[in-house]
Amino acid sequence: MRLTPGAGSDVDLDRVDLFDLDLYTEGDPHRIWDVMRAKAPLHHQVLPDGREFWSVTRYEDVCRVLGDHREFTSERGTVVTHLGVDDVAAGKLLTSTDPPRHTQVRRAIGSRLTARAVAPWADGIRRAIVRFLEPALDGGTFDLAEQALRLPAIVTGPLLGIPERDWDELVQLTAMVTAPSDPHFRHGSEAATLAISHHELVTYVTDRVERRRSAGGEDGSLFDHLMSVRVGDVPLTDEEIALDGYSILLGANVTTPHTVSGTVLALVERPEQFEKARADPSLVPNLVEEGLRWTSAACNFMRYAVSDVRIGGGTIPAGGAVVAWIGSANRDEARFPDPHEFDITRTGAKQQVAFGFGSHFCIGAPLARMTLRIFFEELLGRFESIETHGEAQHLRSYFIAGMTHLPIVARKRTTP
Ligand code: HEM
Repeated sequence: MRLTPGAGSDVDLDRVDLFDLDLYTEGDPHRIWDVMRAKAPLHHQVLPDGREFWSVTRYEDVCRVLGDHREFTSERGTVVTHLGVDDVAAGKLLTSTDPPRHTQVRRAIGSRLTARAVAPWADGIRRAIVRFLEPALDGGTFDLAEQALRLPAIVTGPLLGIPERDWDELVQLTAMVTAPSDPHFRHGSEAATLAISHHELVTYVTDRVERRRSAGGEDGSLFDHLMSVRVGDVPLTDEEIALDGYSILLGANVTTPHTVSGTVLALVERPEQFEKARADPSLVPNLVEEGLRWTSAACNFMRYAVSDVRIGGGTIPAGGAVVAWIGSANRDEARFPDPHEFDITRTGAKQQVAFGFGSHFCIGAPLARMTLRIFFEELLGRFESIETHGEAQHLRSYFIAGMTHLPIVARKRTTP
């Protein structure tokens, strides 16, 4: 998805099609969201097949939809690619469970993913990132977006106890789940791609859980942790373990790479920002927050209204699907002055909602933040300059804002 919007043009809100995949590969969604925030903060769209959904685009409304489970439930599904199809994993998968059960399961699972719990992984992650960046140091063309897809596997693979030989396949399968229409990942129709990838991933995780059980002992991996989680006195069922393992794998794989590519491109397009970050490494944590805001890799999440809800000057009827556009909330001028400026010194960048808001706030945020921080420390420490070497290609997805190709050429840093 184009992250720096082009010149404004007329937007006819009655004809806007937010499910038009071309919008995300060749169009300019930010210009549309700008108009939606100003003129139609609650927007309604009916798809040709009769499915319908409401959209909220303002920061406050997005936080309310994502954060208030009494008004907006997660139990009928949260991913727009499944609009209109009730989630079979409701109440079993963390993401599709409402409090109070969600709170109990999340507390138990999350204890291994807090900032304090992930801190000891920093050295291993740094070594993996240094290895990842090595091929870019030879001065040749390096396709950052394509390579970055493997980054989470390199980082989370060992934490989950997933052997390296399986990473490529898992990267492919997780990309198929989130961008089933992209020509790089598509296998037949969109529905077939979704069905195949979902099935294969759940089978993979189930198989790993079974193998860990029969191997006995402990390997300290996140899967082991999932197997030991107790809610009250009751362990998670094997199905719950597999589904939550799947969701952690997915959450990790499909977002961090696009945040990396989108932030690097923003820096490349603004050499003065690149220079500023290079000159002062203490700016890296804020660069990471601004990069998260700017890219908003998880472009939206969905909920269903529990009863009629007044929001954004209109009403979502009971049972209506509502899409909270995170990408738009993170460019809301009411919250972020000059929202379409990428500024690594922005005050308030940390208010970004790229990780969501409320009880479902990304459980992997501490790990993602640490990975991104280390990535940019190493990148800025190694490279004098970076240029693009060809066109960026955008992911064909209305759910994940990302790139499939970003060819760059980097010049090694010679001065300390
Ligand atoms: C830049 C990287 C990331 C972004 C932008 C991101 C974004 C998000 C967002 C927006 C949500 C909220 C979903 C909702 O409200 O329904 C979420 C939840 C979640 N994320 Fe992430 N995520 C990232 C990295 C990760 C990583 C590294 C992991 C795994 C280690 C992960 C695992 C999850 C899980 C399991 C949930 C569900 C939490 C719940 O329902 O309580 N994510 N993520």
